[in-house]
Order: sequence, then structure tokens, then C-alpha cells
Amino acid sequence: EQTVTAPQPAPAPLLVGHRGAAGTAPENTVSAFTQARDARADYFELDVQLSADGVPFVFHDDVPARTTNVAQVFPGRENDPITSFTWAELQQLDAGSHFSGAFAGEKIPHFDDAARVATERTGVFVEIKSPENSPGIEKVVADSLHGNPAWARFAHCGKVEVLGYDAASNQQFARLAPEVPLQQLMDTVPDAATLAQVATYADNFGTDYRLLDAAGVGRIKAAGLGAGVYTVDSTAAYDRMVALGLDRVTGDFPVQFTRHAQGL
Ligand code: G3P
Ligand code: CA
Repeated sequence: EQTVTAPQPAPAPLLVGHRGAAGTAPENTVSAFTQARDARADYFELDVQLSADGVPFVFHDDVPARTTNVAQVFPGRENDPITSFTWAELQQLDAGSHFSGAFAGEKIPHFDDAARVATERTGVFVEIKSPENSPGIEKVVADSLHGNPAWARFAHCGKVEVLGYDAASNQQFARLAPEVPLQQLMDTVPDAATLAQVATYADNFGTDYRLLDAAGVGRIKAAGLGAGVYTVDSTAAYDRMVALGLDRVTGDFPVQFTRHAQGL
């Protein structure tokens, strides 16, 4: 007698809040991380850079103009490199008001603040952002993950993953912290040979969801890499990514996506 098995639904991907929960809170702030955690996302993502005096802080852009009140606090420095500011100066900026008055006074977080929000349920995707502007950042991040008690509790539960676009920076991080899952980001889905080279130092590959189709997912998986996408901005797009069988979906609305994934 022939056994007939029903088609299996695609397994749910890990759900990652982009810059915390950038659709519903000021990006890369403790409020955004907290929203993603309270929504029981699998991870929240952040961007880390180094201040002029070597402190790791969470910020996306290369300059402070878009997401802070720098024009009021340091007039004329709106388009200076964010990495030219000291930690004490960064702490004087308001990183919440640009989103809404409800978040006025929200600070630029220290990298370690993210570890204090994370839990064993909701870990952290750490993107090393623009490493050319933050020399030595790979070692600072690796030392934080290895030596800081706030991060150490995640060391053995797989709830920290490091990401970056810069292959040389990623390879350097892989040498410093080979046990930490690593994701190579690219604004393209390359050929099989390039993906095989990525797989020599990275565990996962991430790209813009609009670039990915079944053939692209197939190439990534054939190289032995997990497949991630950013920045998924609607539940319809989220459903398309689930159907493609992706491992990691990063989006600005983790609160909505976690409810949607539960059928709510
Ligand atoms: O998850 C990767 C994604 O965050 C990369 O894009 O520009 O938002 O850092 P970006
Ligand atoms: Ca990012």
C-alpha cells in the first residue's frame, strides 16, 4: 500500500527586528530593542561603531544628521563622521525625537546596553557597520562578547550572531571569535563560486529580500550557508520569504510579524 504524505509547510524562519524595531520605535535604541524582545522576536539587529575615544556604540548612519538633534547640540557638526564624536559627546544627543516626541530623550546606546535587554529567547544580531571608520572594532566586539559578563551569558546559547558587508572585516572577526555565528551581507546574490568562498569563513549569507528568488536561495543553501534577508516591510513580503524557505527574516515591524507568524 502506498503511503501518501501531505506536503510539509516551510519551517518558520528566525524573526529579527531590524535596528530593534525601526518601524515602531526610534531605530537602534533601547526602546526599539525592548519592543522586539517583548514581542518575543528571535533576535533584534543593531549596528555598532566606535567613538573617537574607542567606545562601542549603536548607530546606523555615518553622520548624525538624520536621527539626532545634533543641529541643536553641536551646530555645524551635522555631517561630521559619527565616529569623530567622543562617547561623552554622543551621550548629549537625543536619538528619539526624530521618530516622535514620545521618545524624546532616548540616548544612543552603548553596545553593552543591548546585552542587558536581550534574553535567551531574544538574542542579538550585531552588524559591524562601516568598519573602515572604526579601526579595531572587530577586536572590541570580540573582546566584549568574550569578556563582558553582560554578553557572556549568551556565549553558549547561540543567541549572538555577527554580520557585516566587509569581507576582510568579517574574516578578521572570524579569526578572533570563531565560535560566534557569522553572516556575510551583500547587496547582490553572487555566483556559486563566490558563495563557496564565503562559506570558508561565514555560516550565513544575508541580502536584500527583493533580490532573492528560489534559484538564489538554492545557490546559498548549496554552498552550505544559511539564508537571510532584510528589510522585509510587509506581512505579504514576509509570507513570500517563508515560502522561499529562508532561515532568517529581518524586518522593521517585529511586533506585527511575530503576531502574524502565530496566525494572530
Ligand atoms: O540585517 C542587515 C541590514 O541591517 C543591513 O542594512 O543598512 O539597515 O544596516 P542596514
Ligand atoms: Ca544593520
